[in-house]
Amino acid sequence: MNKEIRWGILSTGHISNKFAEALKILPEAELRAVASRSMGKAEEFADKHHVSKAYASYQELANDPEVDVVYIGTPHAFHLENAVMCMRKGKSVLCEKALTINAAEAREMVRIAREENVFLMEAMIPRHIPLLKRVVQWVKEGRIGEVRMVKATRCARGEFAPGARHLEPELGGGSLLDVGVYVISFASQIFGKPPVEAVGLAHIGEIGSDEQGAAVLKYDKGEIADLSFALRTEAVNEAYIHGTEGYIKIPDLFAVPTKACLFKNKKEMEVLEEPIIGNALYYEAEEVIRCMKKGLKESPFMPMDESIEIMEVMDRIRKPWGLVYPNDVKETE
Ligand SMILES: NC(=O)c1ccc[n+]([C@@H]2O[C@H](COP(=O)([O-])OP(=O)(O)OC[C@H]3O[C@@H](n4cnc5c(N)ncnc54)[C@H](OP(=O)(O)O)[C@@H]3O)[C@@H](O)[C@H]2O)c1
Repeated sequence: MNKEIRWGILSTGHISNKFAEALKILPEAELRAVASRSMGKAEEFADKHHVSKAYASYQELANDPEVDVVYIGTPHAFHLENAVMCMRKGKSVLCEKALTINAAEAREMVRIAREENVFLMEAMIPRHIPLLKRVVQWVKEGRIGEVRMVKATRCARGEFAPGARHLEPELGGGSLLDVGVYVISFASQIFGKPPVEAVGLAHIGEIGSDEQGAAVLKYDKGEIADLSFALRTEAVNEAYIHGTEGYIKIPDLFAVPTKACLFKNKKEMEVLEEPIIGNALYYEAEEVIRCMKKGLKESPFMPMDESIEIMEVMDRIRKPWGLVYPNDVKETE
């Protein structure tokens, strides 16, 4: 492999553009190719981000021998198909969250990554932000005693055009998969284990997907995670980690986390502050490069089996809602 890690971007939507911007400030990254379902969009993206190759099909990108790793920025319903296409051609993959639609798909994606011996990671930005790694260190050092509760909110208030991926069930839309995944992943990271019980309530909107919801997870020692998520609701997106000897507050955890505060006896004792480099996608791209240069097939900060566990929790939460995605149906055929 060359000194530089050669990237391909699969799809040209909102987050793919942000990812292309993030790669520009990583000296070891080269954005070699982009693929879209249409040549016009691929060329427009290539012009905008100075990419040397533009493809009119995802398969051509997967086939390109000069690409080492592919970033997948398609709607959730296509992540498995897109990732498998790339991994079968020997490409490593950074796949947007939620990794897939359901746990069965996640298990399949991970199985193929292992079979092909390629790197695979779910693009879960907060895992790689240095400030949040320091918060996790606070927790491990017992700075707030034993962690008993996590409380986190991740809401967006979008005006979505008809058919937009955010709420469209055909595309794997809905608040649980789109933003709930962040708070469930955060609870998983802090407790370091899957819950023993997981329940949730949701409002299923007119399009047929969950516009907002809440989940409560219980862990083996009685620890609780209290989580909320929404796509049409404005909220303060913050997270708290409550322990027997204090608590940590992280304002803006899921957008641009630049500050965390540690409280004891309700008094602020310590504050961490750190600006974000570029847009926050910089950090996950940097982690992929670090792992690939070391020959790692997964990141210790977002392991593949943990991504599967998170999908399993989401399957359990949404089962009573009667929310079924087309890919769920395929699974039982
Ligand atoms: N990490 C983050 O902060 C963050 C933020 C937003 C979204 N995301 C994740 O990124 C992924 C994409 O989100 P996005 O907001 O970028 O979506 P988007 O703007 O709608 O872009 C999705 C792209 O996927 C491609 N695509 C392939 N099949 C499609 C289909 N049937 N319908 C629509 N698009 C299709 C299209 O690219 P072509 O037309 O070029 O093929 C489209 O531009 C999701 O997994 C989402 O959860 C992550």
